[in-house]
Amino acid sequence: MKNSTNVTKYKVLAPLYDMLMGNRLFRKARQQAFSEIRINRGDSLLLVGVGTGEDFAFLPHHASITGIDLSPDMLRIAETKKGQLDINLLQMNAETMDFSTQKFNVIVLNLILSVVEHPEKVLEKSLKYLEHGGTLLIFDKFVESNKKPNLLRRGLNIVTSAIGTDINRDFNAIKNGLPIEIHKQYQTVYGLYTIIVAREKYTTNDISE
Ligand SMILES: C[S@@+](CC[C@H](N)C(=O)[O-])C[C@H]1O[C@@H](n2cnc3c(N)ncnc32)[C@H](O)[C@@H]1O
Repeated sequence: MKNSTNVTKYKVLAPLYDMLMGNRLFRKARQQAFSEIRINRGDSLLLVGVGTGEDFAFLPHHASITGIDLSPDMLRIAETKKGQLDINLLQMNAETMDFSTQKFNVIVLNLILSVVEHPEKVLEKSLKYLEHGGTLLIFDKFVESNKKPNLLRRGLNIVTSAIGTDINRDFNAIKNGLPIEIHKQYQTVYGLYTIIVAREKYTTNDISE
């Protein structure tokens, strides 16, 4: 999964994306994911790899939302779905995202860690821009930790990677060495996808500061 080819892949996928991913099953799974977190009045949200804005339907009007994506074609569709939401859409590489001193109360990583070239960099950057005590919401497909995917899954991955997503990533390997505390993690969509609610893990020194 190269970021350089992702732009081309998602240019082709953009007009088909909502048809493929906007079905009831996925909407329900997204709704389930967002029901796990609290978005307070005035909170700032960052949607990393916002895509066509399929998450917008689950976001409140009282939050200030930023969405970034590498693909101008996906962003163009997201732009049409903003409605009354307070959303700022930016073309940005998630691996090198830069918000200067801005931080976010909630960072959403839906179907992005399986797509970017270096998912660990995206997770690390997300922690950098997460407000103290903020929440990370992740909805994606990961393999069972420390288990080699079976032959069928490895074969299928050649096809899905060519289209734009790697189905064989291990979340524990991605988060390895990063200060992340998992609050909730469970399977959804017939066990094929995972919902994760996480926070930054603080040391005693961080807390007493
Ligand atoms: C599978 S789609 C998920 C979109 C959306 N989050 C959702 O849940 O429907 C993956 C998105 O990641 C974007 N993407 C791929 N590589 C990226 C990168 N390095 N930085 C930011 N966005 C990237 C693609 O353009 C695409 O819109």
